[in-house]
Formats: sequence, C-alpha cells, structure tokens
Amino acid sequence: MERTLVLMKPDAVQRGLIGEIIGRLENRGLRIIGAKFMLVNRELAETHYAIHKGKPFYKGLINYITSSPVMAMVWEGPNAVAAVRQTMGATKPIEAAPGTVRHDFGLEVGRNLTHASDTVENGEKEVALWFSSKELVNWERTIDPWILE
Ligand code: RTP
Ligand code: MG
Repeated sequence: MERTLVLMKPDAVQRGLIGEIIGRLENRGLRIIGAKFMLVNRELAETHYAIHKGKPFYKGLINYITSSPVMAMVWEGPNAVAAVRQTMGATKPIEAAPGTVRHDFGLEVGRNLTHASDTVENGEKEVALWFSSKELVNWERTIDPWILE
C-alpha cells in the first residue's frame, strides 16, 4: 500500500477549500492516516523544496508555503501517489485537466493550492519529514472490501 504526503497550501486554507479537497480524496477511496494543521517554518519549507533551490521561483515558493497555515496529511491506498497527483492535476492550473483540483480552483502556478508527492520514494521520504511515526494512525476502515479488491 502506498503512502503520499498531501499539503493543502496556504491559498487552499485561506479560501476555505480544505473540506472540498479532502472530500475529493475520500470519495476516491483513499484513506487518511495522518493530519495536522500547522504553520510551516523556513527550515521545513527549505528541506521540503530543496530540489528547487536556485530556481527563479524558489524564493516565492518558500514565502508562499510559509505565509499562512497549511493542512498536512498522509493518504494511503493502492497507487496512492499517482492517484492523488491525478486528482490534483498538472502543476500549472492552466494545463490541469477539467475536473482536477488545480483546474477547478486555480489559475496560476504560484497559487496552485496543493502539494502531492511525485514518486513512491519521495512519498516515503516526505511522510517521514512531515510526520513522526506516532502521528500516523493505524485503523481499519470497514467499507474497504467495497473499495479495494
Ligand atoms: P508540488 O511539489 O507542490 O506538489 O507541485 P508539483 O510537483 O506539481 O510541481 P513542482 O515542479 O514540484 O514545483 C513545486 C511548486 O513550485 C511552484 N512552482 N512555481 N513559477 C513557476 O514556474 C513555478 N514552478 C513551480 C508551484 O507551487 C509548484 O507546485
Ligand atoms: Mg513537486
């Protein structure tokens, strides 16, 4: 079972879209195993986005993610990484498919509402960066046999 880190970025929180976006992931059949509402400090932001250091948008990205609270979550399911990326849509909202979060609620890449891990390996790393093992909940969802084969 894959795990992926999902962030409702500050714009999603400020715009009152937490419930809408969580609802889409729940409807899809993914299972939430961790969540926290938090301010992101610079150190965490820089570690999380280390791969983008030096790029023209890096400074704006760090300012954006630390500007206001985020909702950080871990979601689990078969192919969870690809499934969540698909639900969120392409990085640039203008290129995101209709029906995706970034298409339905966004216009600009610098306000694209969510983060989702891009590979299984990064999913594991990011979950470990943002959550301690104690913060992840092991629970049974009784409806699972009707969602997972
Ligand atoms: P994310 O990591 O946030 O889930 O987004 P992503 O994989 O779809 O995109 P990525 O290439 O990892 O970029 C990380 C975030 O940086 C901002 N960005 N701005 N101005 C620009 O050209 C630009 N490119 C990327 C976006 O907020 C993007 O989500
Ligand atoms: Mg990324």
